[in-house]
Amino acid sequence: MQRMKLGFIGAGFIAKFQASALRFVRGADLGGVCALKGAEELSAYAKQNALGDCVVYPSIRELCHHVDAVAVFAPNFARLDIVGQIVDAVKAGAPLKGIICEKPLGRTVAEARQLVQLGKETGLPTAYFENQLHMKAVRAPLAQLERVQRAMGPLTLARSGEEHSGPHEGWFWDPTRQGGGVLSDMGCHSIACDWFVLTPIGKPIDFLKPVAVNAEVALLKWGQPLHRKALLDRMGVDYAKTPAEDFATGMVTFQNPETGQLVKGQFTNSWMYDKQGLRLTMDGLGPGYAFEVNSLKSPIEIFIADQAAEAVANAEVALEKSTSSRGLLAVEANEADLYGYVDELEDACRAFAEGRDGLANWEYGLEVTKLCQAAYLSAERKRTIDLTDPATQKELETYVSFIAQGRGRETLQAL
Ligand SMILES: NC(=O)c1ccc[n+]([C@@H]2O[C@H](COP(=O)([O-])OP(=O)(O)OC[C@H]3O[C@@H](n4cnc5c(N)ncnc54)[C@H](O)[C@@H]3O)[C@@H](O)[C@H]2O)c1
Repeated sequence: MQRMKLGFIGAGFIAKFQASALRFVRGADLGGVCALKGAEELSAYAKQNALGDCVVYPSIRELCHHVDAVAVFAPNFARLDIVGQIVDAVKAGAPLKGIICEKPLGRTVAEARQLVQLGKETGLPTAYFENQLHMKAVRAPLAQLERVQRAMGPLTLARSGEEHSGPHEGWFWDPTRQGGGVLSDMGCHSIACDWFVLTPIGKPIDFLKPVAVNAEVALLKWGQPLHRKALLDRMGVDYAKTPAEDFATGMVTFQNPETGQLVKGQFTNSWMYDKQGLRLTMDGLGPGYAFEVNSLKSPIEIFIADQAAEAVANAEVALEKSTSSRGLLAVEANEADLYGYVDELEDACRAFAEGRDGLANWEYGLEVTKLCQAAYLSAERKRTIDLTDPATQKELETYVSFIAQGRGRETLQAL
């Protein structure tokens, strides 16, 4: 494979994580970065870790002219503008081979559709980064169960969860900038993971047709006065005025278009999971077989007594979103690999080198956005959303949830 010189747009949390993943990817370098904040630090990290001569570019246009592929690792609210600038650069002759965009593709169906359209204008392959589809912990059991699945039939129930104690930057908490609360931020992961796990062996990732969505959202922790104040002080976001959900759960029903079989993907997401840190859970159940993943069950654990805890400066060294620096702690040796970042980077680089989309392209990202938005609609209307109904499909095209409009007080009860 030819070497792929990547350019990152954004140099915050995910860009740093992806840079650390790049240490384990063969055939790719970090050629440049453009960001409002953090670019110099990321460039220094790249150089220290032999990831490439990462140049800090003052504009997206210049970055696009000096790398082979760009990755949009900037906040959700900046997507359209950034991708618009990439389109302009490509039209002006930037020699890109592909464009990567982080989840969620859009904050609404309309926004995701616009992004798909912009991607098409470039004529370039795309990759929608949904890391959980690439997790070795998900792929390995599916590979192990392949023969069982062929003999007994595909999985019929998947359960995916992603939970932690809340995001690291204020914009995530602001539903008008992020697109909602935890459902918009992490529901996309769990819904996509369910869809992927349920897909029969050998079929494309959009083979199963989503036919119905049912969901509930709630504000369980961060609407309470004590925690609301802490959020306002720490993140500058006032949940008395513009709350978002910190808990979401629901079910997507998919249909196998060949057999008619209905299968279910259950999702649970929260920003009020006050345990050791980020927990990803996945269950897959088929006729006569099953698998389970729990990312907190590490083979490593450490213990830090109260008297030693003062020496611990950064709890997140051990685990993403770690909330504690003492007691019995979970530690993951290589989180970038565990969460699938290494494999998703490798997949995109290989695909772009071969002139094709990554495993998940932006059209797939649009479908996942639609499922998330259908989940908001279900929670608002307190009923199951029938995705086979043309009128519902039409409604989803322009739908903006109350929460994303900053009107969460009208739907969230817990204030
Ligand atoms: N796959 C995952 O597990 C995962 C995890 C975290 C974040 N994400 C996604 O990644 C994206 C970024 O999240 P983050 O946590 O890194 O955010 P962040 O706030 O930590 O970092 C954002 C970065 O983008 C830069 N930026 C902002 N506006 C910009 C603009 N107009 N042009 C160039 N740079 C700009 C900022 O300066 C900063 O460097 C989000 O869409 C988020 O949903 C995915």
